[in-house]
Amino acid sequence: MFIESPRYTERLGSVRMNHVQKVISLDSGLKSELPPYGAMGVTKIDEETIKYFEDRMAIVIPTKDEKLKLFEGVVSGVPHDCLVIVVSNSQREKVDRFRMEGDALDQLCRFTLRQALILHQKDPAIAKAAMDAGYDDLLDEEGLVRNGKSEAMIIGLLAAMAAEKEYIGFIDADNYFPGAVLEYVRNYAAGFSLAQSPYSMVRILWQYKPKISGGVYFRKWGRISEVTNKYLNSLISTKTGFETEVVRTGNAGEHAMSIKLAEILPFASGYAVEPQELVSIFENFGGILPTKDIKVMEQGIDIFQIETRNPHLHEEKGDEHLNGMLLSSMSTVYHSPLCDEEVKQAILAELVNQGILKEGEEPPPVHINAPLKKAKTSKFVAAIRSDFDKYRVLH
Ligand code: GDD
Ligand code: MG
Repeated sequence: MFIESPRYTERLGSVRMNHVQKVISLDSGLKSELPPYGAMGVTKIDEETIKYFEDRMAIVIPTKDEKLKLFEGVVSGVPHDCLVIVVSNSQREKVDRFRMEGDALDQLCRFTLRQALILHQKDPAIAKAAMDAGYDDLLDEEGLVRNGKSEAMIIGLLAAMAAEKEYIGFIDADNYFPGAVLEYVRNYAAGFSLAQSPYSMVRILWQYKPKISGGVYFRKWGRISEVTNKYLNSLISTKTGFETEVVRTGNAGEHAMSIKLAEILPFASGYAVEPQELVSIFENFGGILPTKDIKVMEQGIDIFQIETRNPHLHEEKGDEHLNGMLLSSMSTVYHSPLCDEEVKQAILAELVNQGILKEGEEPPPVHINAPLKKAKTSKFVAAIRSDFDKYRVLH
């Protein structure tokens, strides 16, 4: 593929945050007489390079009662060499939707001769493994894994580690276009190929997120992402003294990272997970607060934001859902030790203005699952691996 070369990189301590890079063309051919680079300002990512990273990548698909057709479409869009890991929180009683997902996955895998894993978030064996690993952050009052996409991401991460993958990417199950899924994963691979550090992250920015009401309107910014990005940028600006617009993917649900980075990041519950990743990276490696991880500091963290060619069309889940997402996103910034009084006041005003908080209220802090490295990781991973036969589709 052809992608804009990283044009400008903002450096915050040892974090290298790249401005958005657009995908210029989805394919760059195989012809070896072409130079290994593109035109000026454009980088060519070879097919072999993309395949190299796909082979080392697990794609985690969190799903909760999504339409089966959408789920199947998403799985069909994941490049063949990636390991698909489905982490489901779908209903099991009456209509066993988890079973239906397993059957659909099994059929696709049989047709295409590939393997996949499918786990249920409420499987007591996973909760027990979490408990034994001293990672009860993940558990609710009933002693099972909490609800939420972020908890599904952690289980997916453990399974990816158990399968000895080096990269992990997340793709929602409610995407209408399998072709978009294929592009996201290729963009993940492209980003990883540009990284200098083993600690790297790729976040997807959609070119358009169409809205359908009467006709199709190709909207660029979601209501939430605009606000989240603004305050994540403020967090940086108030520390450096220079205004920035570098953060454009604060809520990027579609994102990927090296396992090395994923292991040291906390994952906030619910929809706070994506902005919290950036907040934690700025806190721990932004050079403002003291760091405990000198080794990571030395190598740095590369963050890429890649703008897709495909538009993003997913299930609409309503206003209340969006308000909750905005509140938890703002909470990650508000409660950060990097957040000064001025930004805090601006956040409160924003939330009151949007009718999400009342005057005098504060955004409640979100639950944060500690970095996996804080648990007995190898024990946890081994427990998941020992159950692989149960989770594996196509033996
Ligand atoms: N396993 C599991 N467990 N999956 C879940 C759960 C859960 O408790 N809750 C939701 N999911 C799955 C959904 O089925 C879907 O595949 C994915 O996680 C995202 O959930 P949505 O409910 O579709 O979220 P969204 O579309 O509002 O938000 C998405 O985009 C945001 C940015 O615009 C998510 O990716 C957000 O995380 C992201 O911030
Ligand atoms: Mg969705």
